[in-house]
Amino acid sequence: MGKFSTPEEIIYVCTGSKCGKKGGKAMYKLLRSYLKHAKTIEVIRTDCTDRCKFAPVLCFQPQNIWLKEYSEREVLQLLEKLVQKEESQGYD
Ligand code: FES
Repeated sequence: MGKFSTPEEIIYVCTGSKCGKKGGKAMYKLLRSYLKHAKTIEVIRTDCTDRCKFAPVLCFQPQNIWLKEYSEREVLQLLEKLVQKEESQGYD
């Protein structure tokens, strides 16, 4: 059997049709780049999450924090808090 690892935290970025056009695809790329060396946080893109009227949407798990109509600044601020938490726990 192969090694199967699971991240402690996941950011699900909707890149469905509506969200993708409203910044979801760009946010996915940005987060992938930003978290390239993170060991415990992973970014996963999702298809439509049935919240199109709030596009773009993403969510942080396991915190279950959902952001709607987000700005890049808002997402990065929240992410910075998670990264600081990760570093304070000695995962760096
Ligand atoms: S495309 Fe993102 S919620 Fe529908």
